[in-house]
Formats: sequence, structure tokens, C-alpha cells
Amino acid sequence: MSSASRSVLAFAIRATLDELKRMKSEGVGALTVEELTLSGLREAVADAVGSPVFSDSESCPPVSPRQPLPEPSEASSPDAVSLIHSVTSEGDLTPPRFELPKGSKKERWEWLHEKVLNCEICLANRNIERQIVFGVGNLDADIFFCGEAPGEEEEKQGEPFVGPAGQKLNGMIRGMGLEREQVYIGNIMNWRPRTESGFGNRPPSPQEIGFCLPYLKAQLSIIQPKVIVALGNTAIQALLSDTTLKVGKVRGHWFEFESVPMLPTFHPSYILHNESNRTKRMVWEDLLKVMERLDLPISDKQRAYFL
Ligand code: URA
Repeated sequence: MSSASRSVLAFAIRATLDELKRMKSEGVGALTVEELTLSGLREAVADAVGSPVFSDSESCPPVSPRQPLPEPSEASSPDAVSLIHSVTSEGDLTPPRFELPKGSKKERWEWLHEKVLNCEICLANRNIERQIVFGVGNLDADIFFCGEAPGEEEEKQGEPFVGPAGQKLNGMIRGMGLEREQVYIGNIMNWRPRTESGFGNRPPSPQEIGFCLPYLKAQLSIIQPKVIVALGNTAIQALLSDTTLKVGKVRGHWFEFESVPMLPTFHPSYILHNESNRTKRMVWEDLLKVMERLDLPISDKQRAYFL
């Protein structure tokens, strides 16, 4: 294998690892890999190390089609840490301090929107030629859906949840008998965390989260929702200041953030990777709890979704 091909392979592996880490942060614990993909990977790796392609029964341990994602210890190996942190943090990530002006919700939201779009740290950290992403939706919304960070489509369009995960979130909202325009949708992060390879996604670092959190709190203090739905591990951990929390353990239980009741559930991307009725039912039961808390009408048909 030529050195150019080898660096392409290293680049692809790094991008894949970034994506796996991001999926893990959303609560994905396992994924299905086609046998064809596995043999392609074996061939590429064998080629890169200059050894003959190993067969399942010899040098390569048997691989079941369902591969667990790396354990946290692997993800936080020195290599992974440098991979994560060497690409973060343009400028001083001391959290911004500011006071919202007086005025109507609309005036205060517009002031904050302008402030975030002109935030120098956000501008310095976003991907080149991509946009800062601020929350959208109804300023009088009862429900504030909080995700992790913009993805590729979001940073292109400058709006949260407009890519595949956004389509899934829209479906969840419609299932509740609501329209996207009736809720508020935001993210912990206002920019898509950069990766070294320039491809894929990675979970934001604690410093990046700490920097963006005051902007999220300010949105909450303007909207004053009755409920926050925290989507996935990163949002849950950031809002509850506890990096040990796992969505699988805390989902469906009520917490509080800034005195607002908060319900954690799986990230819509998690459903995209786990389209079983069991997964959908778990998320749906969490959303039923939100509907009950808000006294939204629930039909028998809705109660029985994904059973
Ligand atoms: N995932 C998120 O957490 N937020 C988005 O806006 C899109 C994907």
C-alpha cells in the first residue's frame, strides 16, 4: 500500500472513530456491521500492515455481526483524548457573562440571537464557511427540546435539527399531536465541534459545553418552557452537570434544570440507528409522560403506539 493510500485509510478510520464516539454520546451501545463491510475492513487493514488477509478462523478472533462500541476506557485513551482536544478550543473558552436586556420575549430573543451569531468564540470555532446554530421555535412554547450540537446539515442551514435526526424529531413531535412550530428546539452547542479529519461528528468537550451553556440558559429564561426534553447523553450530562449519567439509566425520570422540569430520553439519532419497536416505545413512553404533565390530549391510539 502506498503512503498516500495509508494516510487516506488513517483519515477514514479517524473519521469513523469520531462518528462512533458521537453515536456513543447519544446512547448508542451497539451497532450492526455487515459481514461484507467487515471483510472489506480486514482487507484494508491487512494491506496497510503488509500482512496476508487474515481469515476468521486464524489470526482474527471471530466477530459477531453485532459489534459493541468501544468502552469508555478505549475512547479516553491518550490517543483519543488528544484527538478530541487537539481540535477544540479556538480562543478563550471562559463562559460569557452577560445580562439580557429588558423588553418583550421577542426583543430579548432577538438581542440574544444577534449576540450569539456575532460571538467571536463561536465564529472562531465553527467550521469554515459554516454557520453558527441558534435555537428556533415558538417563544411561548411549553416544550423545549434540547439536543447536543449541530450536525452537518444544521451547520449548513443554520438551524437545529434539520438533518436526518431532525426528521425523526419532527416525527416525534407530530406523534404528540403537535407541530414543530409549536415547540422550541435548541442545542447545548452553538457550533458543530470540529474534528481533526474535517469529517464526522464528535461530542463537545467540557470546555466547549461550559462556554455555550450560558447561551442555552438565557434562551430558557426567555422562553420559560414548562418542560425540557433532554435528548441523549451529552444534553443530559451537560444539563445535570454529571458526566457519569447514561441515558439508558435516567430516561423517563424527571429532573430539574434551572427550576424547569426536565425529562431525559434517547436522542433521535439513537432511534435512527435502532429502529426497533422496543426502542421507539421507550422514547414514546417518555414523550407520553411529557404529554401527561402538560395535560395534552392523548387518544387510545396514541397510547398504543409501538406496542
Ligand atoms: N443532533 C443534535 O444534537 N442537534 C442537532 O441540531 C442535530 C443533530
